[in-house]
Order: sequence, then structure tokens, then C-alpha cells
Amino acid sequence: MVGKKFPEGFLWGTAISSFQAEMGRGEPSDKTDWWAWVHDAGNIEEGIVSGHNPLNGPGFWELYADDFRLLREELNNNAIRLSIDWGRLFPEPTDDIHVPVKLDKYGHVYDVEISDDVLHELDKRVVQSSVKRYREIFAEAKKQDIVLMLTLFHWPIPLWLHDPIKCKTDLEHAERRGWLDNKTIIEFTKFTAYVAYRFGDLVDLYCTINEPRIISEHGYLSAWSEFPPGLYDPELYLIVMRNLAIAHGLSYEQVKKWDQTSFSDLGPCTVGLVPVLQVFAPYNPKDQRDVDMARLIDYAFNEWGLNAVFHGDYDMNLDYIIDPEEQKPYTVKGCDYLGVNYYSRWKIKFEEKGEKPLANFKLMPCEGDCTDYGWEIYPEGIREVLNWAYKRYRRPIYITENGIADDKGDTRNRYLLAHVDKLHQTIYEDKVPLKGYFHWTLMDNFEWIDGYKIHFGLYRVDQDTKKRIPTKTVDVYRKIASSNHI
Ligand code: BGC
Repeated sequence: MVGKKFPEGFLWGTAISSFQAEMGRGEPSDKTDWWAWVHDAGNIEEGIVSGHNPLNGPGFWELYADDFRLLREELNNNAIRLSIDWGRLFPEPTDDIHVPVKLDKYGHVYDVEISDDVLHELDKRVVQSSVKRYREIFAEAKKQDIVLMLTLFHWPIPLWLHDPIKCKTDLEHAERRGWLDNKTIIEFTKFTAYVAYRFGDLVDLYCTINEPRIISEHGYLSAWSEFPPGLYDPELYLIVMRNLAIAHGLSYEQVKKWDQTSFSDLGPCTVGLVPVLQVFAPYNPKDQRDVDMARLIDYAFNEWGLNAVFHGDYDMNLDYIIDPEEQKPYTVKGCDYLGVNYYSRWKIKFEEKGEKPLANFKLMPCEGDCTDYGWEIYPEGIREVLNWAYKRYRRPIYITENGIADDKGDTRNRYLLAHVDKLHQTIYEDKVPLKGYFHWTLMDNFEWIDGYKIHFGLYRVDQDTKKRIPTKTVDVYRKIASSNHI
């Protein structure tokens, strides 16, 4: 066959997440911060969220076997990336199950010890019907010969750890402050140990946290602060980034400890992190302030979190220098691969707004080749970020998300082909060890604050019947996946 071949064993898959795809037919997952956030009357009135209900989603919780068949038989994919919902397993507090914790002199967690007894206690508390269903879902993937990449955190936090509405209105008196608190890190570590222990026999690869930067930026830094808890404070952005890096390390360590069965092409029990990497370019390359600001955003958004995970460097004042008190080598526990989410390039303009360095920028609206979401289509960027990430951190890489909001379905083929073509160059010309590609996303789903207004799916979904309707890209993606060529 003429074309550009991909390496033997390359994974071709799609990615979905629990909150976005599970609801629709089955039981609601209504004990999380995200559920509270999208239902909050104030948020709906302010137009921060769409007012759409995640209960009208595609219903993967019930329809998973059919979805896997689409994936296998129509798309010829050999892999799926999906997430497990913390709030479905532990909707009620587990913090009374004691675990020994070590804090450094700044009060930051760096060690959490989890014993058999703790896991047995968690096993008494877990919602058994959710365990059963997740085991059925994962077993079905195995049965259909689909490699399963499991994300441990794709955003919703149980409400007993995060009350986003109280945090938004009165952070000072809020008791459940999500990723601002050590407690969330500790409970997340317990939860992930439990997942490894209970589901490890069915999982092939793990991702700890999906897009730490988006959690912190959209929750604590974005001008429109649209993610829970909707705050604007550049300092909180860095605190949450720090805590997520610590949480990655601790969960990495526990998953390795408690899963003794999973195996991937990269070896036994493979655990990675999923950053979103974007290209940030100065809006006006001739304006030094734009150039400096774009450099700072690139550093704070792309590099900072990875330096924390790989080197234990936490540059809290963003001066590009790691002072002794910003070094925490004891938080570095490992990361077997990088899962890179890549979508777009953004132009950064300097805009004076405040004293904090991170305050003074504006993400400029896309000009030129833009998606329905107003994100620039910039395929070269996928090659740029992969080269950057590999040269700096030297880990195998999967593209864990890449896709386009395209309501009419006119642009998705072009987007997919252009990005996959760049991946081929990245593997063969740049020698980056890229192991697989997961398209975002299998079917239209609950697009966070925008609900059902935005369509990333390879399949559309009829809201009443839940029927999956193929877009034009299904054929194109099938050809790529089944031939392993572009
Ligand atoms: C997230 C997905 C989301 C997609 C499109 C990514 O940042 O991981 O959950 O749906 O982007 O917005």
C-alpha cells in the first residue's frame, strides 16, 4: 500500500471521559463539584454555564458494549482512553479512614502510606454497584480486544471535598476547597490506590490527571473563570498546579504499588500524566512585551507543571530561577510516559492588568483558520510540542487527545489528516517515540460549561434515541487505523 506507514503496534483510539459521556441512560453521577457547578442557578443566570443537563448525555454507562463495537468494527481502533468517576465510587467521605501522612517544613504533603487495611476499609465504603459496572465496562473492552487507557482524574471532585459555589462566593470561610487543600491530595491518593487494587487486572495503562493546567487556569486564572470554583487569583493558580503535581506523584507511587497485574507495550503497570500542551506565540512578534508575555505563558502553562513532576522544581514566583525553597525533589516519584493533549495555537498579547506577572495577558481571538470553538487550526504545533516535550523529558509519548469542534462536519477530515501527517514526521524524521493516537472524541458529549452546543464527536448522538450517527470522518479514521497508514 502506498502511503506513510506507522510503527507496528501503534495504538489508534478515541478518548472519552466519565462525566462527559456516561450519563444519558444510567444513574446520575450527582455528588461532584462539576454536577453542582453546571446546575447552579447563579452560574446559569450569569451565563457561565449552558444550563444543559449532563443527564442528557450519550449514556455510555449503559451503552458501552455497543460503543466498543463501533470503535472496533466501524473505526477499526485498537484502543480506548476513558476515565473513572471518583464520585461514583466514593460519594461519601472516606477521610475518617486514617493514613499516615508526611508533610515537609512548608506543610506540603510528600508521603502517604496506604496499607492493606486501608484498602479493605475503602472496599467496605465503595459503592459496589459502581465497582461492578466499571468492571463490566473494562472487561468488555478486554473481551473486544481493546487496549484500555484509564484516566484516574478527568475533573469532577466529590462534593465532600469541594464545594465550588461556597469557594466562589466566600473562599475564606469555605471548608471544602478542592485542590487547594492537602486533604484532597491525600484522599485522591487513597482513591487511586484503591482503583489500582480493584481494577488493575483489567487496565492496560493509567493516566493520573487530565490537564492539570486547565484545571488550575480555568478554575483560578481565566478572565471569565468558567470552571469550578470560578476564581481569579494568579497565586491560587500556582498553588493548585503545585498540588496537582504532588498528587500525580503520590498516585503514581500507589498505583505502582497496588497494581501488580497490568502490562502494556511499555512494561508492567504503566502510569503517565496528561498535560495539554499548546503553542503560545506573541501576538505581535515585534512587540517585546508580547514576546516576553508569550514566553511567560508558555513557561507557566506548558513547562511549569512538568518541571514539578519531573524535577521537583516549583517556581512559585515565576522568575525562571529555582530557589532552594522551591526545590522539592522528594515529590518526584515518576512518570512512565507523557500523554499529550494537543488542540491549537494561541496568540498572546501583553495587557496591563495587575501586579502579578501572570495577570498581564490576553489570549487573542483566533484569526484565520479557526474551529467552531474559535481555536486556531495549527497542525505544525503538534510536531512542535512533541519535539519540545520529548527533548526535555525523554519519555515515550501518546497523543491522548486531539480533535476539533466541528458542528457541520466539514473540517474534521482535514484536521485529522493534517495532524496525523505531522505525527508521521514526528516519528520518522524527528525520532520521537510516539506510541499511539487517541482522537477526541468518540461521540458528541457534554462539553463542560458548553453542554451540547459544541460537537467534537466522530459520531453525533440523537438525544432521544441515543443512536450514534457517523460523521464523514468515521470512514477516514477507519482507513487510517485499519491500514496503519496515512
Ligand atoms: C478536555 C476534554 C474536552 C476537550 C474539548 C480537553 O481539554 O480534556 O474533556 O472536552 O478538551 O474542549
